[in-house]
Amino acid sequence: MIVPGYRDHPAEPWDPDAPADPGEAEDFLRRCYLENPRLGPVEPRLAIVRAQIAATGSYVHTTEELAHGARMAWRNASRCIGRLYWRSLVVLDRRRARTADEIYSLLVQHLQSAGTTAIRPVISVFPAAQPGQPCARVWNEQLIRYAGYRSATGATIGDGRQLGLTDAVRGFGWQGKGEAFDVLPLVIETPGEGIRLYELPERAIREVPLSHPEFGWFAELGLRWHAVPAIANMRLTIGGVHYPLAPFNGWYMGTEIGARNLADTDRYDMLPLVADRMGLDTSRESTLWRDRALVELNRAVLHSFEQAGVKMTDHHTESQRFMAHLRNEEKAGRPVPADWTWIVPPMSGGITPVFHRYYQEMDLRPAFYLDEPAARRAAGCPRGVTTHP
Ligand code: ARG
Repeated sequence: MIVPGYRDHPAEPWDPDAPADPGEAEDFLRRCYLENPRLGPVEPRLAIVRAQIAATGSYVHTTEELAHGARMAWRNASRCIGRLYWRSLVVLDRRRARTADEIYSLLVQHLQSAGTTAIRPVISVFPAAQPGQPCARVWNEQLIRYAGYRSATGATIGDGRQLGLTDAVRGFGWQGKGEAFDVLPLVIETPGEGIRLYELPERAIREVPLSHPEFGWFAELGLRWHAVPAIANMRLTIGGVHYPLAPFNGWYMGTEIGARNLADTDRYDMLPLVADRMGLDTSRESTLWRDRALVELNRAVLHSFEQAGVKMTDHHTESQRFMAHLRNEEKAGRPVPADWTWIVPPMSGGITPVFHRYYQEMDLRPAFYLDEPAARRAAGCPRGVTTHP
């Protein structure tokens, strides 16, 4: 399908030395002003932007352009099932922050703006990259993540996904308690100050201890999870301008925690333990003990967040909302790029409506990208080989 005003972009690596692409700036500004008639005519703005790019290699977004661009990037995020509410994204303009201390205190404010119970989707946009100049970064993949340690016996304590970053921050002098749910410090790197570590204050970290609606023993497992998923290492690109530090959050869908974080064998790997406590026959796969434990673990996650009054959705509700989003966008004449392998929930796929169709795979901008160097920093290996794949 060809939609006027949209261009397909291949996922090529980002060149931080390249000036802002005038064609991309124009594409974005035309769409932005078309979708927001109150911004007035786009032509005078285009003339200014072309001149700014010619003179400086980049241009500065207005507050409205930044806000709408960030919302468009969410709308274009093909892996996100939660896009129905893209218009409600709260955009915090943090383009004036420079020092690590400033960035840290604004990240704490971000988590406080996201809230501890109602959870609002928020993005904080820090300074745009200037062609050829280094920029500030957060190494962590999310603002809140649990450390992962390798015990003497080779077993993993905590989040196996964070083994690399945990090693790196220990190398920088951080000492964790060595427990299963130690919140990692933020690693903030600025051109002026290098790498600095910051502990988040308790008021910025809402956590929910997990219990089960029927199994009294479940609480004894000592499981918990944080309330706010806040991705910190994806680059936001709007109209040819790049924002390498633009952390954003939504609210959780239960399966992200119950069917992945706590269930994946290289994460918390809880299914064998839960099945054992349930007294299931784990001697053969065909008893479906994994599936039965998975359902109860997910019930515990949804139940606990509900009891704590912390906003969360289940995969059935969120799938229906995504179908509503598809209808809305079709009415507005816009394509919805979507990646089936990410949109379909990690349990009970076939009993959600999102399973039973195909989607358009398109790389539309504005967009969020995870660059290779950012992924390496999050694994604690800024250059070279990752020791923990
Ligand atoms: N899946 C990731 C996690 O478990 C979070 C990704 C973003 N999720 C969201 N609901 N906005 O932490």
